Amino acid sequence: MTACDRPGADATQNSIADATQNSIADATRGSIADATRGSIADATGRESPAQSERCLGPVEEIPDGGSRGYAPPPGGFTGLFAVRRGEAVFVYVNSCPHVGLPLEIQPHRFLDRAGELIVCAAHGARFRPEDGHCVSGPCMGDALEAVATRIEAGMIWVPEKAGL
Ligand code: FES
Repeated sequence: MTACDRPGADATQNSIADATQNSIADATRGSIADATRGSIADATGRESPAQSERCLGPVEEIPDGGSRGYAPPPGGFTGLFAVRRGEAVFVYVNSCPHVGLPLEIQPHRFLDRAGELIVCAAHGARFRPEDGHCVSGPCMGDALEAVATRIEAGMIWVPEKAGL
C-alpha cells in the first residue's frame, strides 16, 4: 500500500477497471461514463470516496508553520497549495483573486518572511492563512478559493477536481 492508499482502495480500482471494460463491451447500453459510475456505486454500496477525492499526501510533508504546493489534477492546469499550523491544514487553489496568477515566488514558498501571511509574488497581495481573506494589496477584501479538506490517518484528502 502506498501512503495515500486506504482499505478498499484496491477493490474500487478493480471495479473501475472492470466497469470500463464492461462498458466498452456493452457500449450500446449507455455511455462509458454512466456505466463506470454505476459500477463503482454498486461495488461499494455507496459513492466511493476514491471516485470523488484525491490524496495530496501526508500532513508531515508540510513543515509546521510552512507551506507546500501541489500539482493540478490530471487534465488541469491550476494547482493547490496548503499552509500548516500544527494539526490544522488550510488548502487553497493556487490562483490569486487579483488576476489569477499562481502565488508562489519559489516552489512551495507561499508565505511571507515571517511565515504569518500568504503572499502573492506577482503584486504583493497578502492573505490570512486561516481563511484566505486578502488583508492588503490589489485584491484587498477578496479571498483565495478555499478547498474542503479532510485529514485521515495523517493524509490530506481534497475533492478530486479541486484546482482544475
Ligand atoms: S496576481 Fe496576485 S496580487 Fe496581482
